[in-house]
This record gives sequence, C-alpha cells and structure tokens, in this order.
Amino acid sequence: MSQSVHVHAFRDLLDGGGVVDDPERIATYTTDQRQLFTGSTLAVLKPATTKQVAEIVRLAAQQGIGIVPQGGNTSYCGGATPDATGRQIIVSLERMDRIREVDPISMSISVDAGAILKNVQHAAATAGLLLPLSLGAEGSCRIGGNIGTNAGGLSVVRYGMTRDLLLGIEAVLSDGTVVSDMCKLRKNNTGYDIKQCFVGSEGTLGIVTGAVLRLAPLPIRRATAWLKLATGAPLAELLALVRRESAELLTTFEFMTARSIALATEAMTNPPSVRAGSGGTVLAEIASSSRHLDLDELMEAVLAEAIESGRIEDAFLAQSGSQRTAMWEVRETIPEGEKRRNGSVKHDISVPLSSIQRFLDLAGSQVRSYDADLELSVYGHVGDGNLHYNVLVPPDVDRIEFTNRIESGLSLQLYDTAAALGGTFSAEHGVGRFKKHLLERYGDVGRIAAMRRIKTAFDPSDIMNAGAVVRPLGKESAS
Ligand code: FAD
Ligand code: MLT
Ligand code: ZN
Repeated sequence: MSQSVHVHAFRDLLDGGGVVDDPERIATYTTDQRQLFTGSTLAVLKPATTKQVAEIVRLAAQQGIGIVPQGGNTSYCGGATPDATGRQIIVSLERMDRIREVDPISMSISVDAGAILKNVQHAAATAGLLLPLSLGAEGSCRIGGNIGTNAGGLSVVRYGMTRDLLLGIEAVLSDGTVVSDMCKLRKNNTGYDIKQCFVGSEGTLGIVTGAVLRLAPLPIRRATAWLKLATGAPLAELLALVRRESAELLTTFEFMTARSIALATEAMTNPPSVRAGSGGTVLAEIASSSRHLDLDELMEAVLAEAIESGRIEDAFLAQSGSQRTAMWEVRETIPEGEKRRNGSVKHDISVPLSSIQRFLDLAGSQVRSYDADLELSVYGHVGDGNLHYNVLVPPDVDRIEFTNRIESGLSLQLYDTAAALGGTFSAEHGVGRFKKHLLERYGDVGRIAAMRRIKTAFDPSDIMNAGAVVRPLGKESAS
C-alpha cells in the first residue's frame, strides 16, 4: 500500500488538525532533542481522545505500521525519534493536554498524558498542592514522556522519581485495548502493578493516554543556600549532614563545578556574581509547608556546622526571592550554556552515594590520560548519586564526529568505571535508541531476558517504538 493511502486511512479517523504530513512541519518531530539523528515518518498523528489513540493503534497494527509515541520531544536518548525507514508514524499527544481533575483531599491530580509538566504543576499549585516533579525541560515535556522516561530532575532527593509519583494510568496497548486504571489509591494490592510497566518503557509497550499523580503539601517556606565546597569535600558526608540536621526537609542537593557555572553565567543576560569553591558548589534547598518552622534559622545552623567541619569554605543563604531565583537560574542554565558552546557529550551516570568521590577521582584520571586537553562540565543531582559528567565539544570541531569518537572510546571507560562501582550508564535519561548498545553491554543477562519477555507479551509484533530499548523475543536483528 502506498504512503498516501496509509495517511488517507489515518485522516479518516481524525479531524482536520489531527494529521500533519507537510514535510516542513514534520521536520521538528523527526529530529531528536540533541540533534544527533533525523528519522523519517509517514505523518505525525495528533489524536484528541483516548478512543482516537486506540483506533490509530488498531489501524496501524492491521497495516503493519510502526508507532513512535511522542510528548515534548525533549528526551536525550533518541527514544521519541522514528527510525530512517519511513515505516513508523509519530503519535504526538500534544492535543491531549487536559487537566482532568485535582482532588485536594486525596492529594492527587488526574491528567491527559499530553499535559505539559509545567501546566500540571500550576494546576496543583492553584489547589494549594505541589506536584513534586521538576526539571529544566518542564515548560515543554509532557506527562506521558515523563512516565516514558521515568524522569528524575531536581527534587528526587525528597520526593523520588516519576515512578514514585504515579498512582494510576490509562494506556492503549499494541492491539488497541485500553487499560483504564486511573486509580487514586495509595494502597491497592490487587495483582501485578501494570502501571509501573509503562514507567521507563519509552513507548515500547503502549501509549500512555492518562495518569494520576501523587501530590504533596505546597511548600510555603524555603531556605536556599550556595555552598562553596573545599577541595575534595566529601559530598556524601556533606549530604548526610545537611539531610540529617534539616530533619528531612531537604528537597534539592545539586552539585556544580566552576566550569559548569561559568558556562551558565556566560549564557545568562543578568548573571549573579556567584563563584564556586575550590571543590565546586552545592545548591541546597530545604522547604516546608509549615508556617511554624523558621527555615532560615535552621539552614544557618546547618551551614555553620558544615563550615566548622571543614567540608565547605563558605556559604550564603538567599536573602530574597530574586536571589533564590538567580541561584536556581544558574543551575538550570547549564544545559543551555553547554549547547551554546557547541554542545556536550553527555554521561548521565549514577553510582551509590558511598562511591561518588571515588568515581570523580577515577573518571578525572581517565579523562586526563585519554586527552589532557578535553574540557569537562560536571554537575548534577548528587543528592541522588547522579552526575552529569559531560565532555564539552570544542567550539571549532564537528559536533557529531566528536561525539561519536568520544562515545566509542572515553565514554565506555567512564561507564566501565561507573559499572565497577555498582553504578549505571543512565541514571535518568533512559535508553532510547542511542543507549541500546550500552544496555546490552552492561545489563544483566537475566534482566534483559525478562525485559524481552515483557516486551513480547505487550507487543508481540513489535509495533510500539521498534528499535528503542529492547527487541521482542524471536527478533534478533539489530534495528
Ligand atoms: P519525549 O522526548 O517526547 O519522549 C520520551 C520517550 O517517552 C520516548 O521514548 C517516547 O516514545 C516516550 N513517550 C512519550 N510520550 C509517551 C506516551 N504518551 N506514552 C508512551 N510513551 C511515551 N530528564 C530528567 O530525567 N531529569 C532532568 O533533570 C532533565 N533535565 C532536562 C533539561 C533539559 C533542558 C532538557 C532538554 C531535557 C531534560 N531532561 C531531563 C530530559 C527530558 O526532558 C525528560 O526525559 C522528559 O521526561 C521527556 O519528556 P517528553 O515529553 O519530552 O518526552
Ligand atoms: C539536567 O539535570 O540539567 C539535565 O538532566 C541534564 C542536561 O540537560 O544535560
Ligand atoms: Zn539531570
């Protein structure tokens, strides 16, 4: 069947705005966020309802057309990008962006999977509650994509990953069956936890169309501190101190090296005059929903103890909302700063907290002996044992050629080190298409076999995002 006949069949299922097949408009959907790969697609379909999603999936299954679900297309591993065959359609959830219900008593929010994260945060805040998922891409990424990648971000140390916030799900399986489990319950031991299968599945098991997320009391007080670390400051011990002495009110513990801070401030219009300590910086924030706690006083006492212990050279507390915003802006502008300079080769590693210092030492020597001229931008969610150990692409080189060279050499050494310390090559960014070979290299054989069985059970014909993460049983060819 010709491509135009296929597209015509989908057009019959959707209204006017539901099919995009104009090559110029399609282009933004077929290139990944890091602009490392451009795929090809018959069309971008934009269903408006779960019923339409189910009809699309049924028709695609009948015609043997693959499906790539897409949210905000902000993910870093190419999971939302179709392959080069032109035999996969993109199903964009962007028209399914409703907030279905906020239930302040049950402390939950029910949304369409295409709702933009920031809008969901806002809807929760309007009801006096917090959706505790926050990341730099929150103005563009969508809840279905957050579930697909099990997004982490900036407040995992207190609230966990997307997985920990998910109470219920609605999803369309590869034969068009709708799983309707928009459950608000905290306790529900009634067999397999199907919703969790979709978390981190990156579109390979079905299309998430709705979700119920757990909310928390909205913090009304915060104390935000910029800690200037002494050289070799033991990050894990410092974290333990801040966490313990702030009585578990810690929401953020982000590490930044001087280089990463400089990249961010160079990209900002009004950068604050903040400096890192000789061992880098930690941005730490405690937050509380209580009016009865004096968080500034608490944080000052914690910082005084940390200075006394010699772990930090100095620290200052944001004295106003604008100082706090400026500190946060520095942290959140690092990815943009890297991009403006010619990008970075990203290593989203995590190791057990007890090994974080060892990783930094070993990785530092690996980089120096690989090429002493390489520049690093190292920062990340150190409170979760997660570092973005990024190698900067020099300004005057071909970005893709450089990325390929580093990824086939130094990156493997860094991942070997993380693995040897009990860590992983992907802490929060997923596997997608770009990191499949790493899953094969580092993944436990039994675990991969179990993943392939799950994939086969959910999607025996390999319609859902074929080529990403893992292939079903019986399909051996690499795609
Ligand atoms: P997409 O990129 O559209 O899709 C991601 C994957 O999920 C794909 O495999 C896709 O097929 C699948 N998918 C999408 N929608 C659905 C659906 N409805 N049903 C089933 N599968 C679906 N990530 C972090 O974890 N932490 C961070 O701190 C962080 N910071 C970032 C900062 C910036 C500036 C940027 C650009 C990205 C950042 N990311 C971060 C990565 C990215 O934002 C997250 O992975 C995000 O969760 C992706 O959401 P999305 O809607 O853009 O998904
Ligand atoms: C972040 O924490 O800023 C992102 O996960 C990393 C990135 O955007 O490179
Ligand atoms: Zn991150």
